[in-house]
Amino acid sequence: MKLTYQTTEPLSPRPPASTKAGVLVRRRGVRPRRSPAGKATNELVFSAYQGMNADVFPHVLSLHVPVGSKIADITYGKGVFWKNVKLEYYELVQSDIKQGIDCRALPYKDQTFDCVVFDPPYMHTPGGTAHEGHQNYESYYKNNGTGNGTNKKYHEAVLDLYFLGSAEAWRVLKPGGVLIVKCQDEVCACKQRLTHVEIINYLTETMFIVEDLFVLMRTNKPGVSRVLRQRHARKNHSYFLVFRRKSVKPTS
Ligand SMILES: C[S@@+](CC[C@H](N)C(=O)[O-])C[C@H]1O[C@@H](n2cnc3c(N)ncnc32)[C@H](O)[C@@H]1O
Repeated sequence: MKLTYQTTEPLSPRPPASTKAGVLVRRRGVRPRRSPAGKATNELVFSAYQGMNADVFPHVLSLHVPVGSKIADITYGKGVFWKNVKLEYYELVQSDIKQGIDCRALPYKDQTFDCVVFDPPYMHTPGGTAHEGHQNYESYYKNNGTGNGTNKKYHEAVLDLYFLGSAEAWRVLKPGGVLIVKCQDEVCACKQRLTHVEIINYLTETMFIVEDLFVLMRTNKPGVSRVLRQRHARKNHSYFLVFRRKSVKPTS
């Protein structure tokens, strides 16, 4: 299948990569030189946007996932990411724990997909009265209902799912395939946990090369349920991380 970059997506301003080597400039008495190809522009995909997931995701795709790619969204949820994407450009296979498909045990053959999209819960609600203020996350993210397969809790459980799901993504991705990970940092038990750093460090040590990082900033002002004294900046941004699959998974 021949893959080409999309050029008509309204939210994808990236022009197709120029294949021209430039024009040969000749001036009398001067050695001919090749002028560089391309043009000056600021019509580009940027690393930070203010808005919603659906505003940024098409930009991530336009830069890193060629039209015609076979994509698995393994935490599809309500499919919000895809709201502004022209679905006819891709072959999308969607799944979620809500459909009984665990991202850690995908029902796909090795090396099936050009791209995997992974947006697991960025917070953990272990049940009981813990994280009481976050119980709404449980109904949305379903991270307690997955029976995590681990006795880890809170942030360690969040990381566990990212790491195991990414390893499974590595298995189903073709060599050189792209993994798009959505995440948000959190303060857990009063400790600053920079989830995006932890994910990048882990994945690039083992299975992937990091290709890109997008910051998404919320448009509204998030609050907290109770505050006595604020110790850390309230997070109002999240990340899309883009990784490329290494051919060989190191054994260590
Ligand atoms: C942040 S939401 C994803 C939102 C989604 N990107 C969208 O556009 O609607 C997290 C999703 O992960 C799913 N999930 C939680 N644990 C999972 C697991 N072990 N395997 C697959 N999906 C899981 C939840 O059901 C939820 O839909």
